[in-house]
Amino acid sequence: MWQAERELATLSLAALKPAERRFGNRCFFSIFTFVRVLVLTGAGVSAESGIPTFRGKDGYWRNFDPSKLATPEAFARDPQLVWEWYRERRQRIRNARPNPAHEAVARLAQRTNEFLLVTQNVDDLHARAGIPAEKMVQIHGDIFVTRCSGCDFERRDYEHEYEQEQEHVIPRCSKCDALTRPGVVWFGEQLPWNELQRVENYLDRGASDLVIIAGTTATFGYIVDWALWSSRDGGELIEVNPEETPLSRFATRLLREPAAVALPRIVDELTNWGVAL
Ligand code: OAD
Repeated sequence: MWQAERELATLSLAALKPAERRFGNRCFFSIFTFVRVLVLTGAGVSAESGIPTFRGKDGYWRNFDPSKLATPEAFARDPQLVWEWYRERRQRIRNARPNPAHEAVARLAQRTNEFLLVTQNVDDLHARAGIPAEKMVQIHGDIFVTRCSGCDFERRDYEHEYEQEQEHVIPRCSKCDALTRPGVVWFGEQLPWNELQRVENYLDRGASDLVIIAGTTATFGYIVDWALWSSRDGGELIEVNPEETPLSRFATRLLREPAAVALPRIVDELTNWGVAL
C-alpha cells in the first residue's frame, strides 16, 4: 500500500513544473518521515473578515497613536479611553466571521503530524475556524481576556464582559479590586511567558518541513527569527502577503495575494499531494 502510494506520487510529481516539483519533492518526502508545520499569522489574515490591520491602508496605527491606546502608560493615564477602544474592537470581532484563510489554516492543522500556529492576532477568528487551543499560540494575547492590572487574576467570560461593556463600566478585579485591563500585550511589555515557552518548545524539537508566514509586516524581530530558525534545514518558507516584508527575500515561495485566496489554494495543493494526510 505504501509502495503503491509512493509510486503514484512519484508519477504525478513528474508532471509538475520545476519550482513546484521541488516543493512537491520536499513534502512528498515528508509524508514518509515527519511533517512539521509552523504557521505565523498577522492582521492581514483577518483583513478579509473586516478587521482592520495596524499598518496597512486604513490600519489602526495610521489613524491612532499607539502610545495613547496600547501602552501601560496610556492605561494609567486614561483607562476609560483605552477600554473604549478595546470594547469597540471586541464588538467588531464578535460581529465578524472567520474567512477562507482561517479555515484553510484549520484544515492544515487537522491534517499535519505536528503543527503550531503562532498568531499575533488577538481576535478569536482562528479559534472559531476550528484550531484547537493546543495547536495555537496567541503571542500578543487574547482581546476577550480581561485581566487584573494589580494581581494575577484573569477571566474569559463572553457574557459577563458583554454586559459590562454595554454599561460602559471599567471592570474591577473581583479578587483585589484593582482596575482590570484587556489581556493583550502592549508596547513596552514582555511577551506572555507561557506562550513563549510553547513556541520555544516547538522550535527546540526540530526544524519544520514547512513554514507559512501570512498577513504580517513581520515588524517584530522574534517573528522573523522564528520563521528563519524553523525553516533552517531546507524547509519551505512560504510568504503570503500582497506586499513585501523583511522575510520576503528569504521566502522559497512568494504569494502576493490576499490570504483568503492563497491559503486555501496552498492547503489544497498540500492535501492533494497527500502531504498532510
Ligand atoms: P500589520 O498591520 O503591521 O501588517 C498587516 C500585513 O498584512 C501587511 O504586511 C499587509 O501587506 C498584509 N495584508 C493586508 N491585507 C492582507 C490580506 N488580505 N491578505 C494577506 N495579507 C494582507 O499587522 P501585523 O504584522 O499583524 O501588536 O502587526 C503586528 C503587531 O503590530 C500586531 O499584533 C500589533 C501591532 O502593533 C500589538 O498591538 C502588540
